[in-house]
Amino acid sequence: MKFSLDIRFIAFFTAVFLLSSINSVLAHPKDKDRWNNKYGNEIYLFGEKPIPFLVENFHLLPKGKVLDIAMGEGRNGVYLAKQGFDVLGLDISEKGLEKAHRLAKKNNVNIETQVVDLEDFELEPNTYDVILCTYYMQRDLYKKFQSALKLGGMIVVETYNVDYLKYARFNRKWALDTNELLDIFKDMRIIRYQDYDDGKEAYSSIIAQK
Ligand SMILES: C[S@@+](CC[C@H](N)C(=O)[O-])C[C@H]1O[C@@H](n2cnc3c(N)ncnc32)[C@H](O)[C@@H]1O
Repeated sequence: MKFSLDIRFIAFFTAVFLLSSINSVLAHPKDKDRWNNKYGNEIYLFGEKPIPFLVENFHLLPKGKVLDIAMGEGRNGVYLAKQGFDVLGLDISEKGLEKAHRLAKKNNVNIETQVVDLEDFELEPNTYDVILCTYYMQRDLYKKFQSALKLGGMIVVETYNVDYLKYARFNRKWALDTNELLDIFKDMRIIRYQDYDDGKEAYSSIIAQK
């Protein structure tokens, strides 16, 4: 009797352990597949040109190591590489990063890339001169940017805000609240901040310094 109870006990915990391991291995298969599908043709979904906020302000950024978070097809990272920065791009989609390398080659620059799941990734402390993150919303990760920067380093973040919901079907939880970026980076020196709204798109952008 005791023996069969023990067996059932062990079987139950083994099953729970196996299920939780499978779950963590497959944590975000849908994100990876979804983005690989989106990036699966020749056209650059987000274009080959960098965001205007970066073009207007790149001269403020300290030269050195840039970490491009969720780099996608590389429009911003490649632009910074052309300006003489050393760029490492991270993304869950290998198809996106392949396109980023093609864009770099077309522009005669080198970039480094790494396929990672940012929801399960640790940033090295005191390592980067610039952390760039555009149109990728992960609030807990934003809060780790400051410690990953070298002293004097800067973050550049831009993504949709709540006003964007007027123009597009978009999940509210992925949109920034009013002044949310100012709040998240309140312990840093705010160098530039804008709320942009042209009647079709609405987003917030920030540059802040450690
Ligand atoms: C809207 S795109 C933005 C790409 C790029 N930052 C830009 O502005 O062109 C969002 C990017 O986040 C990446 N992504 C989504 N979930 C991710 C995750 N868990 N880990 C790493 N990258 C992820 C996607 O593959 C995609 O390239």
